[in-house]
Amino acid sequence: MNNAPLALDNDLCDKAIRADFLHFVADPDTSQQALETIEDGLLILKQGRITALGKSRDWLDQLPDGVEYFDYSGRLIMPGFFDTHTHYPQTGMIASYGTQLLDWLEKYTFPTESKFSDRELADNSAEFFCQELLRNGTTTAGVFATIHPQSVDAIFGAAQKRDMCLVSGKVMMDRNAPAFIRDSAESSYQDSVALIQRWHQKGRARYAVTPRFAPTSSEQQLEVAGQLLREFPELYLQSHVAENQDEVAWVAKLFPQRRSYLDVYDHYGLLGERSIYAHCIHLDETDRRRMSESGAAIAFCPTSNLFLGSGLFSIDETRRHDIRLGIATDVGGGTSFSILQTLNEAYKVCQLAGQSLSPTKAFYLATLGGARSMYLDAQLGNFEVGKEADFVVLDLQATPIMKRRMAQAESIEDQLFALMMLGDDRCVVATHIMGQCQYSRS
Ligand code: GUN
Ligand code: ZN
Repeated sequence: MNNAPLALDNDLCDKAIRADFLHFVADPDTSQQALETIEDGLLILKQGRITALGKSRDWLDQLPDGVEYFDYSGRLIMPGFFDTHTHYPQTGMIASYGTQLLDWLEKYTFPTESKFSDRELADNSAEFFCQELLRNGTTTAGVFATIHPQSVDAIFGAAQKRDMCLVSGKVMMDRNAPAFIRDSAESSYQDSVALIQRWHQKGRARYAVTPRFAPTSSEQQLEVAGQLLREFPELYLQSHVAENQDEVAWVAKLFPQRRSYLDVYDHYGLLGERSIYAHCIHLDETDRRRMSESGAAIAFCPTSNLFLGSGLFSIDETRRHDIRLGIATDVGGGTSFSILQTLNEAYKVCQLAGQSLSPTKAFYLATLGGARSMYLDAQLGNFEVGKEADFVVLDLQATPIMKRRMAQAESIEDQLFALMMLGDDRCVVATHIMGQCQYSRS
């Protein structure tokens, strides 16, 4: 990436950012040269896209007039983090005590989500949520709304204000939930079509067909979900699968003719490229093969899986089957907006399963791996020329203990590991979207 110095002019440059840089150009599982770093670098942008990255000394004294210059010397810049699965309406109910998945949905989630028929509440929550993503260095996310179309308008509206790339959609849920939070197969089709026409591929917005999970959709509604994917180009699909043992047993009762929980989705044409499935803990060999060959992605949600007592996700099985993988907070089943804290818990989940998550793999998942899992790596995920400049500026010495620990760090890998174990929102100095500073700690 340290290209031979090129002459800068106003055609190439309207912003320049000075810092240390770190990104991935490949998966560290398969390449020894996956990680690239550049000390005291300069990132050159034009209209929010990357035109060059090199040493600051090559260009600092030749920045054209009128260039906006950000001096983050001594800070570390990475591509913005990807949170591949989360729920904005659950922000206010994060950290609700005492239950596992199915009771938690009844006791906390459905009553909370029912309030999102109120557009004012939805707008207020969406604003807070987007700000919280940025405050944690997250620039792209796969986000559930609620069954209410106005809740989707609220989240895409809040993202649009900040020029953020969000994938979201209306939850489809027509059975096994209280009447106040159900739609119907017919209304979910009509509402989804209207939202797709309003939002999909408008600016950076991407629409996701969003059946909550198999137990809360009738066969007719799952058919509708498949129909939407066939009718509109490049839609996403997001849902939950194989999170909790009671849930898996329930699906087996509801769909006795299907081979497995994942097979329910597969049967209705909901497994493919741009399909993102949260959890995937209790899958079997055939399910994993189908995930891999279909191009679907797993959203690994460690804080949620621990908080709801759901089980231990297997990263080794995901590797063995070469399945696309991202990391996710799953707020409010998850307990933190911080991708750094989510990597911390991911490491511990892997430890408990007798598996390993290296710091390079962890930060790959948070950046380029996340982009690949969301099929956004052509435009995001690292600092290749031509990509969109969404990035996070990090302070590796944000707390006294981080300062002390970093002083002993022996390598960049060691620094990254300490960052993911000790870091959180306090490390985020600034978050830029398309080059623009959208959050600053100061
Ligand atoms: N399964 C179905 N709905 C949900 C949800 O809102 N959160 C989690 N963690 N799992 C689910
Ligand atoms: Zn979820």
